Amino acid sequence: MAILEKKSSQHLIELEDKYGAHNYHPLPVVLNKGEGVYVWDVEGKKYYDFLSAYSAVNQGHCHPKIVGAMVNQAQTLTLTSRAFYNDKLGEYEKFATEFFGFDKLLPMNTGAEAVETALKLCRKWAYEKKGIPENEAQIIVCENNFHGRTTTIISFSNDEVARKNFGPYTAGFIKIEYDNLSALEQALESNANVAGFLVEPIQGEAGVYVPSEGFLAKAKALCEKHNVLFLADEVQTGIARTGKLLAVDHENVKPDILILGKALSGGAYPVSGVLANDTIMSVIRPGNHGSTFGGNPVAAAVAIAALEVVRDEKLAENAEELGQLFRSELSKYIEESKIANLVRGKGLLNAIVINDSEDSDTAWNICVALKENGLLAKPTHGNIIRFAPPLVMDKEQLLDCVNIIIKTLKEFEK
Ligand SMILES: Cc1ncc(COP(=O)(O)O)c(C=O)c1O
Repeated sequence: MAILEKKSSQHLIELEDKYGAHNYHPLPVVLNKGEGVYVWDVEGKKYYDFLSAYSAVNQGHCHPKIVGAMVNQAQTLTLTSRAFYNDKLGEYEKFATEFFGFDKLLPMNTGAEAVETALKLCRKWAYEKKGIPENEAQIIVCENNFHGRTTTIISFSNDEVARKNFGPYTAGFIKIEYDNLSALEQALESNANVAGFLVEPIQGEAGVYVPSEGFLAKAKALCEKHNVLFLADEVQTGIARTGKLLAVDHENVKPDILILGKALSGGAYPVSGVLANDTIMSVIRPGNHGSTFGGNPVAAAVAIAALEVVRDEKLAENAEELGQLFRSELSKYIEESKIANLVRGKGLLNAIVINDSEDSDTAWNICVALKENGLLAKPTHGNIIRFAPPLVMDKEQLLDCVNIIIKTLKEFEK
């Protein structure tokens, strides 16, 4: 006789602990349902999701339009590989290129793969179009970057936990300080073989560092002057998260290579991609790059639906408005707070800095207390807590969340 046994959080955590690699340190909560801005744990407790799967679930959990597109396509055709054409990919490529204003899309699955794709595209362009001698191309990156977990990407990380003992590393990267135009200028002037500048418009994982106003526009102008490609990693900041469709739109910057992932599917399915114009993308020819799953019909159908939701539900506008409200409400509290030092961010990508040392566990303990109070968030690095709810949140829900956050922080003032 089948026994329907409801598994407890504790049991499920132990299962992961015993049978899964320990490559994450999750908050002790086990979720089994999501809808809009809410998630539920296996004991039935309801939470506000204030992480959105690291900004993948911008459109809210289980958005009916996105899930509908996914189910419909999954019942029709899931995977052909790119050995054959499928009837969804071209439609998606047309939609996405028009949506973001580029000639071509190269579809992949995860964010790290899209970054890898952009790096390969940039190098190939440098050899074939710019005329850099073979194997000499350099790409400028920023300190404290986060672009994913592949061997090449961690080669230019300065997070020792992500990097140590994974060498030998990929060469060809020059690291400069983030938000430092003179460092960028100097790197461009002192190296003839620079192919590209890879940058996060806001450094999310590092702790939601927003660069000075004008940095992105001036960096783009410097790149143009030196015939160097500007590669914007919008995997976390893109698709309405910061109050515009792309974070570079705040400074009217058009990247040469745009890197997208996460919310490109609304969190329903791994979908990523790289967009560029023909002068750049034309260096890619059959056999140069690819992925069995990249551009599959389910991904294509899901991505179209996910982008339509962003447009039709005006998620960028909502993120802008609620982000202002969030920062202004928290700032009022922080003026008098002993536990929080500041709030920063753009749109609904924000963070607070906790008044304790970077190696303290205060931020973690605050996140555990937030969980008890019905809101899920996670520290980024050390004493910084990122707040990134789904963009389908309304004003009343946001103010409810602000109350939970302030109430919880106050518990730590004692
Ligand atoms: C800016 C940025 N780039 C790339 C990635 C990697 O994406 P994925 O985890 O899907 O490989 C992330 C993930 O957090 C990110 O924030």
